[in-house]
Amino acid sequence: MTKLLSIRLVAILAGLGFALIALYSFVLGAYAAMTEEVPGHLPYEKPRDIAYSFDGPFGKWDIQQLQRGFKVYDEVCAACHSLKFVAFRDLEQIGYDEGQVKAYAASKQVPGIDPNTGEATTRPGLPTDYFPSPYPNNVAAAAANNNAIPPDLSLITKARGDGTNYVASLLAGYGPPSAELLEEHPEAAPGPGLHHNPYFPNLNLAMAPPLTTAGQVAYDDGTEATVEQMSQDVAAFLTWTAEPTLVQRKQTGWPVLIFLLFATVLAYLSKKQLWAAAKRKDD
Ligand code: HEC
Repeated sequence: MTKLLSIRLVAILAGLGFALIALYSFVLGAYAAMTEEVPGHLPYEKPRDIAYSFDGPFGKWDIQQLQRGFKVYDEVCAACHSLKFVAFRDLEQIGYDEGQVKAYAASKQVPGIDPNTGEATTRPGLPTDYFPSPYPNNVAAAAANNNAIPPDLSLITKARGDGTNYVASLLAGYGPPSAELLEEHPEAAPGPGLHHNPYFPNLNLAMAPPLTTAGQVAYDDGTEATVEQMSQDVAAFLTWTAEPTLVQRKQTGWPVLIFLLFATVLAYLSKKQLWAAAKRKDD
């Protein structure tokens, strides 16, 4: 009997020991991850925390904002960035009607094939076409942009940490590097054709500030088009392109939770019912 007990005790102590070691290394690792600076990395800023209508479990799209953001994309960003996973007809989801989508699609040239010769040409877009790339290929894109290829923006808010805030912070965050930064990190000075931005992880990127002046995009809904506003609006639009079903996803969560809660209560009640007879026998 005592032998069994001592084996148990040893097993418990060994388990406890492992658990403590795991906990210790977790705390150590978490502390290091929070405090240590990664060597070789320049000190860049975390994205600003901006409030959006689609934040939180009850979040909803602000259709006006998505339309403003689309306008910013169309008039500014589309000169360099494609949106290859978004079809023109998807715009119906953000409040444009069939006629508007048709007219918009027809105003864009998409890659096509000459029906007589089979040669590659362009033709006016149809609602079923996807947003075209402004460049025929990556070589042309790089050649036009100081050797940096403007990435496709369809999924960019998912491809970057805290994506919506990052895109908005990046666009509104351009400015010259501070004197202290240059003193501490002389390598942070922007090279030729690069532009300083504290939110970009290596502090300098090949994209010149695309939004520079208030009123650069003429908003139809009376909102004042400050650089900050345009940045937030286009970030919201790019959140929609990356996850058009975001609001549905949140809305589906609630009935599912309520159902699960209800099912748990039912399961508990039936367990009580089933075991009642067995318990009575025990008494
Ligand atoms: C004149 C061309 C040009 C325009 C206009 C432009 N961009 Fe860019 N953009 C670039 C280039 C080039 C890069 C790649 C920069 C690099 O990697 O150094 C880039 C990169 C980006 C990135 C990725 C940054 C990262 O973390 O890698 C985002 C996001 C972005 N652009 C958003 C926008 C938005 C939104 C607009 C419209 C408001 C816009 N851009 C307008 C050329 C442009």
